[in-house]
Amino acid sequence: MANEKIILTGDRPTGRLHIGHYVGSLRRRVELQNSGLYNKIFIFIADAQALTDNMENPEKVRQNVIEVALDYLACGLDPTKSTIFIQSQIPELCELSFYYMDLVTVSRLQRNPTVKTEIQMRNFEASIPVGFFTYPISQAADITAFKATTVPVGEDQEPMIEQAREIVRRFNYIYGETLVEPEILLPDNAACLRLPGTDGKAKMSKSLGNCIYLSDTAEEVEKKIRGMYTDPDHLRVQDPGKVEGNPVFTYLDAFSRPEHFSLYLPEYPNLDELKAHYMRGGLGDVKVKRFLNAIMQEMLEPIRNRRKEFEQDIPGIYDMLKKGCETAREAAAATLDDVRKAMKINYFDDAELIAEQVKRFKG
Ligand code: TRP
Repeated sequence: MANEKIILTGDRPTGRLHIGHYVGSLRRRVELQNSGLYNKIFIFIADAQALTDNMENPEKVRQNVIEVALDYLACGLDPTKSTIFIQSQIPELCELSFYYMDLVTVSRLQRNPTVKTEIQMRNFEASIPVGFFTYPISQAADITAFKATTVPVGEDQEPMIEQAREIVRRFNYIYGETLVEPEILLPDNAACLRLPGTDGKAKMSKSLGNCIYLSDTAEEVEKKIRGMYTDPDHLRVQDPGKVEGNPVFTYLDAFSRPEHFSLYLPEYPNLDELKAHYMRGGLGDVKVKRFLNAIMQEMLEPIRNRRKEFEQDIPGIYDMLKKGCETAREAAAATLDDVRKAMKINYFDDAELIAEQVKRFKG
């Protein structure tokens, strides 16, 4: 159907989801889901993509599929409104990827900035698994299989969406208008684009141990916030402090709302005033961290509690995922039919082709 608005997005199941995932994409997804503005919403757990750099660690990926599913439900993704599914259960995605591989050059993949950084991070320079190298192509298959118009993701996924758009344009140019060109939907708040780790490093990542997880206990969250990196030159309360590059303030940019001030820190009317005081000197880190902790606890408590409830019915979660996979497969199969038709590899369901060949060979 033309003009449908379709969302697709997903996450690699390599760990539980953290607050960077939440502000970067999850929170938005739930809002979009509940906005009623979209005809279809597909949210998937990218286990096959996770295997591209965890091939020798399948158990980790398997364990985290259910963790991510629980995080999704805890955040408010609702299987009656969104189709939640597992990537590896949709074989149509492999077939699409295989055809798309003909549309992308090796040098184009080498230029993908996200892949470049990931290769460095994983010390893959000497021997890159082919599957890992080509995952942007498989990601284009994920997106186009569902005719997604809108892909809500974090900033690091921008090169992937651009790559997908190029594949769509090239496919449609060669084979005729078939695939839908997706748009990226980035968070509108700069602090949410890429939330730093609690240690101030550019990105939250499990291997750096600088994440606050959605499923952390209240005590764990408090402890992590108490230990957060701030401005290293802000030694005494009276010293002037920096808010730039200070993750406590970046988190406040991402998470605080005006009403938090009247609730938890009524001496300050808003974040600008709080920052001004910090920069002037006279405001201690402990006070700011306590404020951040109050905000984070308010946000995370309902998520944590809902997760606990869902954890009581694990078979029910697998059941929900299985149904999601069935729905997703139908959608992907329909697109694959279009693709095969466009590529003229639909030999057995094209009566015209057969009639044409009959005529040709009769001479
Ligand atoms: N690459 C994404 C991540 O690392 C996961 C992903 C795979 C994805 N396929 C996708 C995201 C398609 C959006 C659309 O989180």
